Amino acid sequence: MCGIVAATAARNIVPVLIEGLTRLEYRGYDSAGLALLNPTLTRLRSVGRVAELAAQADGQVAHHGIAHTRWATHGVPSERNAHPHVSVGLAVVHNGIIENYAELKQELRAAGYAFTSDTDTEVIAHLIQETLKASADLFQAVQRATARLIGAYAIAVLREGDETLVVARHGAPLLLGLGEDGNYAASDASALLQVTRRMIYLEDGDVAELRRDAIRIVGAGGTAVNIPEQRPVHESTLSADDVELGEYTHYMQKEIFEQPQALAATLELIGGAQAISPNLFGVAAPEMLNSVRSVLILACGTSYHSGLVARYWIEQLAGIPCSVEIASEYRYRVSVPNPEQLVVAISQSGETADTLASVKHAKAQGMGRTLAICNVPESAIVRECALRFLTRAGPEIGVASTKAFTTQLAALFLLAVTLAKSAGRLGPEQESIQLKALRHLPVAVQKVLALEPEIKAWAERFADKHHALFLGRGHHYPIALEGALKLKEISYIHAEGYPAGELKHGPLALVDKDMPVISIAPNDTLLEKLKSNLKEVAARGGELYVFADADSAVDAEPGVHILRLPEHYGLLSPVLHVVPLQLLSYHVALVKGTDVDKPRNLAKSVTVE
Ligand code: F6R
Repeated sequence: MCGIVAATAARNIVPVLIEGLTRLEYRGYDSAGLALLNPTLTRLRSVGRVAELAAQADGQVAHHGIAHTRWATHGVPSERNAHPHVSVGLAVVHNGIIENYAELKQELRAAGYAFTSDTDTEVIAHLIQETLKASADLFQAVQRATARLIGAYAIAVLREGDETLVVARHGAPLLLGLGEDGNYAASDASALLQVTRRMIYLEDGDVAELRRDAIRIVGAGGTAVNIPEQRPVHESTLSADDVELGEYTHYMQKEIFEQPQALAATLELIGGAQAISPNLFGVAAPEMLNSVRSVLILACGTSYHSGLVARYWIEQLAGIPCSVEIASEYRYRVSVPNPEQLVVAISQSGETADTLASVKHAKAQGMGRTLAICNVPESAIVRECALRFLTRAGPEIGVASTKAFTTQLAALFLLAVTLAKSAGRLGPEQESIQLKALRHLPVAVQKVLALEPEIKAWAERFADKHHALFLGRGHHYPIALEGALKLKEISYIHAEGYPAGELKHGPLALVDKDMPVISIAPNDTLLEKLKSNLKEVAARGGELYVFADADSAVDAEPGVHILRLPEHYGLLSPVLHVVPLQLLSYHVALVKGTDVDKPRNLAKSVTVE
């Protein structure tokens, strides 16, 4: 979602702002803008790509500026709604949603302010301006104004005639970059790698002042924060290659093909061990996990699907009840808290507003045993949880999640093994077998990727379809859901995932020759049942596309197309079976000519509700 870049430096910061916005493009946006001091305020805005803004900014020179990519919430994507928003010589960019903006707008209108946009952000600009009447100090004005905001925000503010930039965060990500010749702020580290690797992650309630040669931070209570004692300086380990496309055409393609190495990097955490220790999840894990008798998983989207797979593993291996909830539902429903329960939050970005809020909600109900499974160190969800497992997928730039999903599955399998051990249900020999299977995954996934040419040929046949049905059973049912999500989000073909046994309870009514049915058919105990479900489809003239295992006894026939995965993989089979579905969606999207990495209306990091 919206991206922020801010800079004050001895160098010309205009290229830094533009490069930073380009790096943040993956988050999803519909318009872009920047404000510079040179020395009066210059504001440039454009609906569309950052490249258009870059063309407008060509030739501009400044040492002080803020920039933004906007993902519309309040008001349509348009130039008048694009950030920055200004109030007499003062400019603001904002990520998040201000819930009490309507009341504040009314109050500010009554005080004589005129509004030129439909956004909640413009309220912040005028509120700071109004607050400046009491004291001319910008930092104090931002502190006082933000104290009146209800909702989530990361903001950056500059003012004509002021040497400083002021930034603040509450519920939306923002970090500072400490450069050689200046100081910077951005929504995520990738925007600032061009100028520095030294980052400070702001916490909720922080307000920071950036000068060329100094920074200061004041925390939520209004007291000065010590750097580095209270806000450590992190050396980012991201490399430029991690965020470059290299030989690939799309980030999604790159990320699908990076899965063997992402899994291998994540599994480096267990090395060659025959047995794992709960310490993998943090120093407090041995005590916290030891007495766990039930698990609650909270997540959204693709991460929710990895949680659904984990439920099968945890219940089967550890014999512990596990429920999985969509975070946006859990946070608002009246549930029965269980303080002994382990709460697992799964998130690629670690900033998903609903997942974060659901963890806070669980904690507020006395559920303190919290574990984050996350791909971004220092993200809000990681910091909110008592325990953590950081997947090592590397930055995921494509909006459609791929390598984050398979690495989450690896982490969740390790959790299931850990819980099974502490429940006394997994002996050393079984544990070593499970870990061996896990370690072989990178090789097994590599072999699945080799099916790409066949999958590409299948994709051609989907391009004129408007609907598709994905079927799976058991721990492959969540993979059917994930396959359907991937197809709909990047190819815009309506797709549903169903447990195959549910077919005759409703969705069979939809099946005809125009509705391709994609089925996951591993060689497991449910295969015979699944085959009956497939017959039901074939009998209604449905075209079947089956992803089987090498040894699944299903045969191709007219209307039944089969692709075989190289090996049968038992409990870990969902990790393999999701890969061809990712490739299928990717190639269907290519045939349809959609914007694979930035599908319409979607954002990578969903930092608003
Ligand atoms: C789908 C996708 C989304 C995310 C969801 C949660 O491809 O990427 O459904 O999975 O927005 O995001 P994280 O995992 O960052 O919490």
